[in-house]
Amino acid sequence: MATIAEAPLSFASLPHPAPTPADVRASILANPGFGTQFTDHMVVIEWTEGQGWHDATLGPRGPIALDPAASVLHYAQEIFEGLKAYAHADGSVALFRPEANAQRFNASAQRLAMPELPEELFVEAVKRLVLADREWIPAQEGASLYLRPFMIATEAFLGVRAAKQYKFIVIASPAGNYFKSGAPAVSIWVSDYTRAAPGGTGAAKCGGNYAASLVPTAEAFARGHDQVLFLDAAEHKWVEELGGMNLFFGFEDGSLLTPPLAGTILPGITRASLIQLAREEGLTVREERYSIDQWREDAASGRLLETFACGTAAVVTPVGKVASPDGSSFTIGSGGPGQTTAKLKDRLVAIQRGQAPDPHGWVV
Ligand code: COI
Repeated sequence: MATIAEAPLSFASLPHPAPTPADVRASILANPGFGTQFTDHMVVIEWTEGQGWHDATLGPRGPIALDPAASVLHYAQEIFEGLKAYAHADGSVALFRPEANAQRFNASAQRLAMPELPEELFVEAVKRLVLADREWIPAQEGASLYLRPFMIATEAFLGVRAAKQYKFIVIASPAGNYFKSGAPAVSIWVSDYTRAAPGGTGAAKCGGNYAASLVPTAEAFARGHDQVLFLDAAEHKWVEELGGMNLFFGFEDGSLLTPPLAGTILPGITRASLIQLAREEGLTVREERYSIDQWREDAASGRLLETFACGTAAVVTPVGKVASPDGSSFTIGSGGPGQTTAKLKDRLVAIQRGQAPDPHGWVV
């Protein structure tokens, strides 16, 4: 359902009449947490069948009116993205690979029978919001402004078919560490539930995938773990991904492995960037299936030295411990961050923060 706007859209700009006072903002930025605080503005763009994208607004952030019959509320026609804006030391503001998010957004839109948004409009919407709320970008190490572009079906219609009206919205939230624990490595719970089956929506970034992960995630939390791990749907044997991040495994020969993108795994932009950076460092990176049994065996034999999770929100987070419903558990390496994990994280973060050259042109 590709719909490309014929001409560039002009944005109506409505500055917030009563923005957050500077002292309140400063205290939020000092300790932003993740996903609980929001900036003053948002972007909204409407789509209507026959008209395409129209009525682009940068305005005050606030509740949106939805008809109770809006399709998104019934059949979950919703997709989203996550990317970050970084404050560079020279006072500039940077985004990391926003056009990759725009492309993935459109891949998700296709899977959910939603209209595609021209990539340049996606990037422009994000840039406009970041510039309007640039004072909301925390400057301290490890912190950034998390941007959440999303699209919902707004047509009031209860028949089951693709809606004919949508809203694209971008909101922003100052962000520190995704994981509250602050532990050097996270602990993960291997779920009995399945996240995605072949032919399903596992490769799309749609809210439904995350809704389905909430019960397994709650189980993980209740058992004292930080994240849930999903195995494949068919054999319940192959490691796929965590509730909201991809996984990498690092071996004693210096090589890395990450599960392949075969339709059931989210194609992470951090994942793709790390594969490229690792290969440039001379490391072998295999995109291959890896079984939970092999993982346990390799951790025990010492062949596996490290495991890390990665994503926009999680950046690069070491995995220290893995526990399964059968009562077994194992520790990876020393249970803390490994050398390759630390090296790749440092390289990625230095590029994102403007502290290292950006030969790939990833920083915008
Ligand atoms: C992200 O890393 O941006 C995600 O979307 C993961 C999670 C916060 C849903």
